[in-house]
Formats: sequence, C-alpha cells, structure tokens
Amino acid sequence: MSSGWHTASAPGKFVILGEHSVVYGKPAVTLAVDLRMTVAVRRSKWNTMNGERLDFRRQAHIRYLTRDLNHAIDMLTCSEIPVGSGMGSSAALSAAMAMALASERGEHMTEEQVMREAYEAEYFAQGNGSPMDASTCVHGGGVSINMPDPDGEFLWRVERNGRSWSFNDLKAPEMTFVIGNTGIRAPTGPQVDKVHRYMDRSHFAREVVDDIETVTIEGGKALRSNDVEALGRLMTQDHKLLSILGVSCDELNRLVNASLPYSYGAKLTGSGGGGCMVALTDRPEKVCEAIKSRGGTPYVVRTGGRGATMEPEPPKVPGVRRRASR
Ligand code: MEV
Repeated sequence: MSSGWHTASAPGKFVILGEHSVVYGKPAVTLAVDLRMTVAVRRSKWNTMNGERLDFRRQAHIRYLTRDLNHAIDMLTCSEIPVGSGMGSSAALSAAMAMALASERGEHMTEEQVMREAYEAEYFAQGNGSPMDASTCVHGGGVSINMPDPDGEFLWRVERNGRSWSFNDLKAPEMTFVIGNTGIRAPTGPQVDKVHRYMDRSHFAREVVDDIETVTIEGGKALRSNDVEALGRLMTQDHKLLSILGVSCDELNRLVNASLPYSYGAKLTGSGGGGCMVALTDRPEKVCEAIKSRGGTPYVVRTGGRGATMEPEPPKVPGVRRRASR
C-alpha cells in the first residue's frame, strides 16, 4: 500500500475453443495471458477515475462493485489488455477492483469469492454471459470448463438460470499463440444476445452449437497431448462454426485467413463482431507480418499469466499524481 492506495491486478485471457457455446453450459478451454489490468483505489472526497470526476452510475460493473461503499473513492486503472477486444479486459477490471476494494475494507477474499464478485459485476453490466472470463482472469494459468474428463484440480462450480459450469485448472503445455486485434471494439453483451436470438428461432443454430461442443472436447484432448496439428485444425473448424453463428466479421476473417498459411490453425477469440483472433503457430514473426499487412495489431502472447493478485504500488497513470492524499 502506498499513500492509502490499495492495488490489485488481473490478467487478460483468450479462448482457445468454446466461446458462445459455453454460455449454454457447454465445454470451453481458456488461457490467461501476460497482459494485465491494474486497478488502485483509495478513500476520497469525490469519485474519480484517473484524475477525472467519475459518475459510477454510467459504468455498470463499477456501480455494482461499489454498491455497498459509503464513501467516495479515487480509482486508477492501467490496462495492457486491449480494451473491448474479447481479451477479458472487463472481467480483469472487475476482478482487480473487487480485490482492491476488499483490501480497502480491510478484508481478504478467497480466489473463489473474487471470481463470484467479478462474475456478478459482469453479469450486472452485460447480462446473460458465462462465468468463463471472470474465472480465467481470477485464476490465471489455464482453465477448462465442463470438460467430460478434466485432469486438473477442481476449482469451483457456478450455477445460474438452470445452467451450470464446472471449472478445473488446466496445465497447458508451452505453445506459441499470436493474437491479432482488428481494432474494432465489440462489447460482449450484444454478440451473446445475437447468438441467443438465432438459437431461439433455428434448430440449425442449435446444431452448430452442438458441433462446437464436439470440436471443443476433441480440442481439449489435443491440447493435453500437445498435438498442435490437431488442435490447430480444430481451432480453424471452430472459427467456421462461429462464422455460421454470425459472430465473425470481414476484418476478423481477413486476419484469420492471412495467418493460416503460417499457422496450425486460427480463429476469432471472445465474443467476436470485431475484437481479436488467435493463431497457433511456430512461426510467430510470419503471422505477425501477415496480421500487420491486413491492418491488424499483432501480439505474441506468453500464456499462463498469473491470476488476480494484490500489488505493492498503484499504477503510474500519465498526468495523475498518486501521492497527494485528499
Ligand atoms: C466472451 O469472452 C465469451 C462469450 O462466450 C461470452 C461468455 O462466455 O460470457 C462470448
């Protein structure tokens, strides 16, 4: 703690397989990355974020997280995670802020409590999603969800609206992934709703979601046995299925197609409609060049980012003094 600040950070994540279908209680596999969101809070006279007065009512997940506060706070945020891009920036913010606020109250939360608070904040803000992003950003490393034969340690189970998700730790082997950001911001809620409406009216859409389940279960096996060729093939197949569901877009398809000649496989990751794609490759430089040549921003990610954790110092936010207490 420095000058009354309570600081925590949480990693971003990407989904290897199973986004959207996981909302319906189907399996998924995710990995945390080495890009982090850092949040610091301290007691204050006014609510501020990064030095600007902040109206919490306009930021739904912050409104939820601060629902029981009886005083104002200064808040600092610093994100290495591209925001609104399917890489879990929102869940990482909720997780880090939940931890920082607990510390400010003089409380310690378990990993599961932080996950539940972050998930509730995400649910309040976006509605209808799964606890996958919150779980990955809180636990870090790798997470498998509703896998029929998980071999990692059981983490927690979440139930909501008749659906349930069992989370297990996943020790993924070292693999190189390149993320390509289209630069198009695409919030999760509307994409989830779009798939929901399609499934409501179409048997075909429900079959596509079942096919994603099959691909994800096969992909989980390929991941555990370090079979990059099989995993890549399944990722590309998953991209096609997600495109049929209507959550890809021209920009994502362009980055996926540009990466494929140098990759085992590639797909959109997260909710789609913009945001990011991910390629599994052992030629990351070539994939980065290909992504750049199509107007995307590449990141070679190191996976296995550590989970949500307290930090000793608040983040340095340009133009904001951290020391002066009010
Ligand atoms: C977003 O990262 C993943 C989705 O499956 C939504 C969710 O699981 O909450 C699209």
